[in-house]
Amino acid sequence: MSTNPTKQGEAINDRRAKALQQYGLDPAKLPRHVAIIMDGNGRWAKKRGLPRIRGHRAAVKTVRDTVEFSSEIGLQYLTLYAFSIENWQRPKSEVSALMRLLRQYLVKERPRLMKNKVRLLCIGRRKGLPKEVQDELSKTINLTRRNRGLTVVVALNYGGRTEIVDAAKECVRKALRGNLSVRQIDEELFSRFLYTGDIPDPDLLIRTAGEHRISNFLLWQISYCEIWITPVLWP
Ligand code: IPE
Ligand code: IPE
Ligand code: MG
Repeated sequence: MSTNPTKQGEAINDRRAKALQQYGLDPAKLPRHVAIIMDGNGRWAKKRGLPRIRGHRAAVKTVRDTVEFSSEIGLQYLTLYAFSIENWQRPKSEVSALMRLLRQYLVKERPRLMKNKVRLLCIGRRKGLPKEVQDELSKTINLTRRNRGLTVVVALNYGGRTEIVDAAKECVRKALRGNLSVRQIDEELFSRFLYTGDIPDPDLLIRTAGEHRISNFLLWQISYCEIWITPVLWP
């Protein structure tokens, strides 16, 4: 495991060139930031006569493969919609199974994330997540914070409208403290109060499982994004 940033950079470039050649990809045409609405786990399980949770379990492997591939081709940012604010309305047993899987992923995946030089970030209301998930999330984010390869942004307890409301609140708080004047507020400044802070907007949004819906995902950030919907189920 190299901690030297220059060496890390060289190794990443080398691996990237090989992968791009292997897949016949033109580096000039690659997006910088891809966001994915990972949908269809339940349908995947149903088709096989399995309980929904088996679909969620299979989805973890797809996440692993997607992170690995994105990292290989040298994508800079990958945002994954893993749990929405609306998803709390699902049956309690499904929610707790999802939280368990999430926690397991955060622990088990650490060596692989480090090996691939992946940096993990999270967007969403983190404080609304179970304590055990918050703890493992903080540990993984902290461990990977110096990695200079792909940045994986996981959206957890995330809602696009909530994000805009939270940003507006922050903005007002700062103004009330006298650290911001109304005149200064423009799109550029406001966007810095969003969970995504200085992460560039996605260039491509992918939704699996065929629904033509945004489901409250990155409402502000996808203003100019291309959208690709595939019928393929996420797992
Ligand atoms: C997406 O798959 C996973 C999460 C929302 C956590 P679904 O569970 O929504 O699968 P479908 O849409 O029921 O097939
Ligand atoms: C979107 O999928 C949310 C995530 C992928 C986490 P959902 O299945 O929850 O969204 P709807 O119900 O189709 O809008
Ligand atoms: Mg769904």
